[in-house]
Amino acid sequence: MGLSLVIFPVFFCIITAAFGFPYEQHKLMGKCSSTRECSTGQICSSCPVELQGSRCVRSSTTNPFNLVNASMPFNKYAYLTTHNSFAIKKRPIQDAVPQVTFTNQEDTISQQLSNGVRALMLDTYDFKGDIWLCHSFKGKCQDFTAFEPAINALKEVEIFLSSNPSEIVTLILEDYVEAPNGLTNAFNASGLVKYRFPVSNMPKDGKDWPLVKDMVAKNHRLVVFGSQRQKEQSEGIAYQWNYMVENQYGKDGMVRGKCSKRADSSELNDRSKSLVLVNHFRTIPIHQASCKDNSQDLMNMLSTCYHASGNRWANFVAVDYYKRSDGGGTFQAVDMLNGKSLCGCDDVQACVSGSSSCTRGSK
Ligand SMILES: *[C@@H]1O[C@H](CO)[C@@H](O)[C@H](O)[C@H]1NC(C)=O
Ligand SMILES: *[C@@H]1O[C@H](CO)[C@@H](O)[C@H](O)[C@H]1NC(C)=O
Repeated sequence: MGLSLVIFPVFFCIITAAFGFPYEQHKLMGKCSSTRECSTGQICSSCPVELQGSRCVRSSTTNPFNLVNASMPFNKYAYLTTHNSFAIKKRPIQDAVPQVTFTNQEDTISQQLSNGVRALMLDTYDFKGDIWLCHSFKGKCQDFTAFEPAINALKEVEIFLSSNPSEIVTLILEDYVEAPNGLTNAFNASGLVKYRFPVSNMPKDGKDWPLVKDMVAKNHRLVVFGSQRQKEQSEGIAYQWNYMVENQYGKDGMVRGKCSKRADSSELNDRSKSLVLVNHFRTIPIHQASCKDNSQDLMNMLSTCYHASGNRWANFVAVDYYKRSDGGGTFQAVDMLNGKSLCGCDDVQACVSGSSSCTRGSK
């Protein structure tokens, strides 16, 4: 043990010297040519406008349930949320009809979840006698805008939940499915039913949600919201706007200093809804612009929306290309939100006893 601890750094220095990597390679924002040169939880990524060449940037969140504890209500934590989580470059094997639509993410749902994404925004449509994840064109899912059957994504979530028994995943569905019990069938077939948080236990009138540790103990680890009011009754899929407020999405939601509600949502400061979601992505995703969008601009918007929501920090932060940033990006943003709401610090890392970096009360 002692010997390998000594040998490893020496060996590493020799390798480093041999290949001529600069000393900065392990640091956030250090120059890099591959992810192997970056620290754990970072990737080597380029952001043409902001950065000169490729740098090590963060690629995962801090898990607040592990770092602080899971003894707070579900609505006291912040969750990194991918907008159109399914919209990644389609695998060539499925390309009977070429896909002509935009993407919003770069990696699979499984990869997103393993990097700390905890909420997925999925658009569900009737298509080819099944339920598909899709962008719409003329109000319908088309061959050239279809991504994959919903069951594929739901199975990825099932695998994550079964192999991570202390984690909770939220699905936010923009739901166009008309087929009777269409979504229920998909949830059944995916094996996710056993994890569903019952809609009857969701707090009305802005009360706190159950504690995370109790949700975990009961295995109620999948929270699902949908956009069709009547499905709360008919299929037990919570109508999102009964529980959550949300700011405007797309271009109009990215105006600096402005955080206004989207049409479907109650007023942002309506405390009868205990969850707050902040959208911060463009109407049409621009890969190259996402570095800037996901960095300081995002931090600024979270603070603007905190005030607009009656001094409540966001629970869900929805972005495109979630790993793109000029440093800490969306991961730092979520760490900030958890720090603010769990202990009044600017970073959840500072909530741990012994940490010296917290300026408590600096809300
Ligand atoms: C889904 O599964 C549940 C529990 O196994 C069952 O009661 C229900 O009838 C199923 N629903 C459909 C639409 O298959
Ligand atoms: C869990 O964390 C919260 C917030 O920091 C703290 O108030 C609470 O005392 C902690 N509970 C336990 C059991 O450590």
